[in-house]
Amino acid sequence: MLEPEVKAGLVHAAVEARRAAYAPYSQFAVGAALLTESGAIITGANVENASYGLTVCAERVAVFRAVAQGERRFRALAISLTGAGAPCGACRQVLHEFAPGLPILMADPEGGTVQETTLAALLPRAFGPEDLDSV
Ligand code: THU
Repeated sequence: MLEPEVKAGLVHAAVEARRAAYAPYSQFAVGAALLTESGAIITGANVENASYGLTVCAERVAVFRAVAQGERRFRALAISLTGAGAPCGACRQVLHEFAPGLPILMADPEGGTVQETTLAALLPRAFGPEDLDSV
C-alpha cells in the first residue's frame, strides 16, 4: 500500500482542498485528493448550485479534473469531511470506471481521524466498462 508519508500528504491535500468547497446550501464541505500513478495529487471540493440537483461532489470534481488533464490511473483517494464518512454512491460508480480497487482514506476535517477502505469493498459487484464488452 502507500508509504505513511505519502498517505499523510494525501490526507493533508484533501483537508486543504475542503477549504475551497462551495456549499452555501448544505453547509457540508468536502475535500478530495487523488494520487495519480505519475505521482501528481489532483484535488476537488464540492460545488453546490441554487438548482440543488446540479451539485457536484468533491470526489467527482477531482476525478473529472484529473481525467481532463490526461490522468486516468490512480493510486489512492483521500477525502476530508465531517464524520470521516465514505464517498456517495454516484462517486463510487464514477471512481470504479478508472480504478476498481482504489484505496480510499476517509479523514475528518482536521485530518486527525483517518479510516481506510477500498472502492471494491464499498462497491461490490459493480457495473463497469467490461459489462459492455458483449455488445
Ligand atoms: N458530498 C460530497 O462532496 N461528497 C460525498 O461523497 C457526499 C456528499 C457533498 C454534496 C453536497 O454538496 C454536500 O456534500 C451535502 O450532501
